[in-house]
Amino acid sequence: MCGIVGYVGDRQACPILLKGLHRLEYRGYDSAGVAMVNAGGQLNVYKCKGKVSALEEYLDGKDASGSIGIAHTRWATHGIPDNVNAHPHYSQSGKIALIHNGIIENYRVLKDALEMNGYKFRSETDSEVLVNLIECIRDNSGCSLAEAVRMALGKVIGAYAIAVIEEGNTDEIIAARQSSPMVIGLGKGEFFISSDAASIIDYTNDFVYVNDGEVAIVNRHEPLKIVNLENKETQIKVTKLDLSISQLEKGGYPHFMLKEIFEQPETLMDCIRGRIDPVSCDVTLSGVKLNRDRFLKARRIIFVACGTSWHASLIGEHLIEDLCRIPCEVEYASEFRYRNPVINPDDVVIAVSQSGETADTLAAIRIARKAGAFVYGICNVVGSSIARETDSGSYIHVGPEIGVASTKAFTGQVTVMAMLALVLGKEKGTLDEGRYHELAKGILELPERIRDVLSNNSLIENLARTFTYAHNFMYLGRGYNYPVALEGALKLKEISYIHAEGLPAAEMKHGPIALIDIELPIVVLATSEHIHEKIITNIEEIKARGGRIISVITRGDSQIKALSDWSIEVPPMAAELMPVVASIPLQLLAYHVAVNKGRNVDQPRNLAKSVTVE
Ligand code: AGP
Repeated sequence: MCGIVGYVGDRQACPILLKGLHRLEYRGYDSAGVAMVNAGGQLNVYKCKGKVSALEEYLDGKDASGSIGIAHTRWATHGIPDNVNAHPHYSQSGKIALIHNGIIENYRVLKDALEMNGYKFRSETDSEVLVNLIECIRDNSGCSLAEAVRMALGKVIGAYAIAVIEEGNTDEIIAARQSSPMVIGLGKGEFFISSDAASIIDYTNDFVYVNDGEVAIVNRHEPLKIVNLENKETQIKVTKLDLSISQLEKGGYPHFMLKEIFEQPETLMDCIRGRIDPVSCDVTLSGVKLNRDRFLKARRIIFVACGTSWHASLIGEHLIEDLCRIPCEVEYASEFRYRNPVINPDDVVIAVSQSGETADTLAAIRIARKAGAFVYGICNVVGSSIARETDSGSYIHVGPEIGVASTKAFTGQVTVMAMLALVLGKEKGTLDEGRYHELAKGILELPERIRDVLSNNSLIENLARTFTYAHNFMYLGRGYNYPVALEGALKLKEISYIHAEGLPAAEMKHGPIALIDIELPIVVLATSEHIHEKIITNIEEIKARGGRIISVITRGDSQIKALSDWSIEVPPMAAELMPVVASIPLQLLAYHVAVNKGRNVDQPRNLAKSVTVE
């Protein structure tokens, strides 16, 4: 998820672009850049690694004049964060500059064709392929920039929000979108383009939302024109916005955490994109494909992680043992690093970390690498320390997670682990074709299932009011849902400050059952079909002692619903994938309880988003 800004009008572009980038840094902040065409028609491109403030320093003393420009703050997906991979990218001739938010899935094929045509590339990015494709089309057909952009996008598969300018043209920006957000602000004789209205709300309240498959010709001397990829002009619909900047940065949500909970259908689509063929259901993880032998000869897989990532790793352990029959262990990185662990050279160590900067996890992988194990990373931040120090890995591609309480990263981590288990299970022959396809199809359906579960938000918001003053909670789950119980408990305690404990449901009778009374709300993850009777027994044990049950059940499970004091229904899902779906109600429950208690939901006390110290 990156941030893009564009301006064309009578004012100097650069100050508007930089201010817009600052407002968009929540979308990505590993590198930034600007491109302007000055009054003499010269195209100047400036970009560097680091935050927007680093770019501002870099611009000092340079020609940043011009009343037309585009700018970009990056969240790397292809190519590590550095000055070369930063946007804007410019074409081989240097005459066209482009900024891009999204992922081009077929960039490899397009790049090979361009290289056959003599094009050379400076960066590892998919975006540079697009700007050279535009130039190639324009040079071969002599068409306009707008035409070349439209024809190039006809060859692209993937997600994009792009803006393109060219040398010698001080009046026109070409913009286009597919799956990534883009809005155009309408001023008097000037236009603003952005990923998010928040970055340009200072200048106008009139906005046009560009739709998927549309190309906008933004010319300061003409009315805005938008065409589809078949060059058919579309209707311009102007929307007046009077939201505050803060509300806009959070997408209109009161907190980043709620925004990130609700964007999980989209972030999971980004996580899955290009990894499961929607027709054949074939699953591909390039990091695994390139290291197939190391995985196949692994006699053991060790997960090292902390917090929510450790909970996700427990699900990964269950998936891999269940589907691939490879022995797994899950280690708290903070313990692993100090207990002189036995690590064999044919072990595979999987480091799971949203930030990719957690000190304990980083220390754990250094020990593993020193012992000769193959280390694989499952991270969110491209180019982070853990991502760079592992032998290979898979990014979860869920975009920056701002809320300290991890939500979309958890579901992204579990989804990547599910894809990993499918790939390995198929390679090892431990997973039959039918179950492979059923689960691959199930993963493709996850975004829709999550959308379904999110429709429970008002019910959960009402339910949360009942527990504003609870002092303790217990979360119970079995099988694949046991780690979900742990994760639900962590969510609640870290943002509401109510103590909560997650347990295997059957473990209750070995002690914790003594805690049960009417004051202790108990959340039971009760979606598992194959141990349904066992869960019912656990619930009856609780009821018999006066406990109050909040159950998460599969839609239509009237039996458990009747036993519960409150129930939250989720759509049916394969048990292996249920953690992704069943965790959503627990995220919402924790969020609403914390809001009712007036907590600082996005930045809870004592916590940091990334624990880079021991
Ligand atoms: C999760 O909600 C917490 N913020 C915390 O437990 C977090 O998961 C843990 O610090 C690990 O962070 P990482 O995934 O960035 O390594």
